[in-house]
Amino acid sequence: MTVEVYRGIDELRSALASVRSAGRPIGLVPTMGALHRGHGSLISRSAAELRPENGLTVVSVFVNPIQFEDRTDLERYPRTLDADRRLCEEAGADIIFAPTAREIYPDGFSSFVDMEGEFTQKLCGRARPGHFRGVLTVVCKLFHIVGPTRAYFGEKDAQQLFLLKKMAYDLDMDIRIVGCPTVRETDGLALSSRNARLAPQERAAAGCLIRALKEGQSASEDRLPGTAGTARAERAASVRASLIAAVEGEPSARLDYAELLDAETFGPVTDETGRVLLAVAAFFGETRLIDNVIADVGSGGKRDESR
Ligand code: PAF
Repeated sequence: MTVEVYRGIDELRSALASVRSAGRPIGLVPTMGALHRGHGSLISRSAAELRPENGLTVVSVFVNPIQFEDRTDLERYPRTLDADRRLCEEAGADIIFAPTAREIYPDGFSSFVDMEGEFTQKLCGRARPGHFRGVLTVVCKLFHIVGPTRAYFGEKDAQQLFLLKKMAYDLDMDIRIVGCPTVRETDGLALSSRNARLAPQERAAAGCLIRALKEGQSASEDRLPGTAGTARAERAASVRASLIAAVEGEPSARLDYAELLDAETFGPVTDETGRVLLAVAAFFGETRLIDNVIADVGSGGKRDESR
């Protein structure tokens, strides 16, 4: 199936006008291109959910300059539109929106989406100041441009997914944000457009992330259920220490962060926590990779089961 590529906001809006006026749903898969099987799974999911309702899937391909705090990282980001188009066709997309930076950020652009509070300051937000302001701003713009009913994002970027859901809720956006499972290589490495930059030895070393996370997941599921208060906090801290040690045990890895958080609140693990997010980020050479898993730990002693 042929996928149309639109570069301009006006031409995309015209192409979608009849879909919208007929009340047909639109699925949006926002990407920065360099598409891989992980993106393919988001596109296929959107196509599978929307086709039966006579809907369309739009894939945006835009390397968003304002979410890069490092200019070299922005310049090195792979741009592979021809290959992206083939993957979109195979996965069942209908339209690609691939605007220029000037189309999205014309001269004089000065309105941004900023989220106050701790949520943007931890994990990736701590290491990449301004990153989530850039992500939230561009996704908000894409939502206004495309007008999707649903938008699909990978669970690999757990903090991004959490913040986008919160933005949609806080700003009353009538869009369902759908999180999709991480797609992995056979050794468990999470698919990422950045993996292509890894030298062979770095690629081999990067397998330590999922091994460390899986160990942390088992340790959390073994050691946290049934604990409460200080005991639970101490055990969570000791699982985190082992997670750090497991990544640092790989000589080629430079740890950025390793954290255990409540997966629902993105706050600390408490007695009410039922699902723990274990999240890591580490550099392999110049390439920064992130990954996460969820541990199902039940709640500690204080939970009110009637809730
Ligand atoms: O996850 C990404 O690829 C980007 O952060 C996104 C959501 C497309 C915004 O530029």
